[in-house]
Amino acid sequence: MPATTTRPGTAIATAIALCSAALVTAPSAAAAPNHPVQGTFVWPISKGFINQAVIKGQGQALTEGGATYDPETLKFTFPIASATNTDGTWTFALDGAAHVQGYKNAGGSSGWAVDVKYWDLKVQVQGKEATLYGDYKLSGVANKTYEAVAAEGDDQPLVTFTLDKEIAPPRDIMETNREITSAIGTERSLKHYPKGTVLKDSGVDLNVQFEQTSRLSPSAIAGIVVAVLGVVGGLAFAWTRPEVQARLAHFLPR
Ligand code: HEM
Repeated sequence: MPATTTRPGTAIATAIALCSAALVTAPSAAAAPNHPVQGTFVWPISKGFINQAVIKGQGQALTEGGATYDPETLKFTFPIASATNTDGTWTFALDGAAHVQGYKNAGGSSGWAVDVKYWDLKVQVQGKEATLYGDYKLSGVANKTYEAVAAEGDDQPLVTFTLDKEIAPPRDIMETNREITSAIGTERSLKHYPKGTVLKDSGVDLNVQFEQTSRLSPSAIAGIVVAVLGVVGGLAFAWTRPEVQARLAHFLPR
C-alpha cells in the first residue's frame, strides 16, 4: 500500500533536510564577522575648539542620523551601528554626523567663519590601539587674516587613542576618557593641531555591550540534530514492522 511506505520515507527525508540545514548553517553563523552589539562612542572633537566656535564664537553644534550633542559637557555621542572582527581588527561603525559652526559673518565675511562637519565615522581597534576614521569637510575663513580655508577628507584617520583593556567578548567594553592624539584628518580639518598633538580635555569614551545571540554551541546543536534523527529513525523502523502496521491500520484513512 503506497500510503504506508511513503510516509516514514517522507518524514525521514524532511528531517534529514532540516537537520542538514541546521548542521550547515550553525558553524558558518558562528564564523561570521558581525557581532550584534549596542553601544556608543563619545567624542568631544576638541574641547578648546568647541569652546571657541560654539561658546565664544556664538555658533552651533548640530547633529544628524542618531548622533547627539550635550551642551553641558560639549561632547558628541554616536550610536554604534555595527561591530565586526576581521583577522583580529575590530571595526565599530558609528551612526550619525557632527557639524560645528561659529563666528557668523566674522570680519565682514558672509556665513559661518568656521564650518566643519564629520560623518561616516568608525573606530578601528588592533590590540589596545584605536583609531577614529571619518569623512570631513571644512569651509570658512582664518582668524585675523580672514583668508578662505577649506579642506575635505574621505575615510581619514582623525584621532588615535589607547584602550585600557583589549577587547574580549562577551565582556563589555567600558573605556572612559581615553586621551586622544591628532592624526592627519584633525590636522587638516581643524588647522590648529599638527599630527601627533595631544588634544587637552578631549578624552573619548567607547562603551559596547555584546548581545548574546545563542547559548548553544555548534556541537550542542549537532548533538540535538543527531538525537532527533535517532528518534525519527526509530519510528521509521517501527513503522516497517507488520505488527505495528496491523495495530495502526484502523486509524489510517482508507
Ligand atoms: C574669522 C574666523 C575665526 C575667528 C574669529 C576665530 C577665533 C578664534 C580664537 C579667538 C581662538 C583662540 C585663540 C587663538 O588660537 O587665536 C581660536 C582658536 C581656534 N580656532 Fe578659530 N577662529 C576663526 C577661524 C577658525 C577656523 C576657520 C578654524 C578651522 C576649523 C578655527 C579653528 C580653531 C581651533 C581648532 C582653535 C584652537 C582651540 C584650542 O585648542 O585652544 N578657527 N579661534
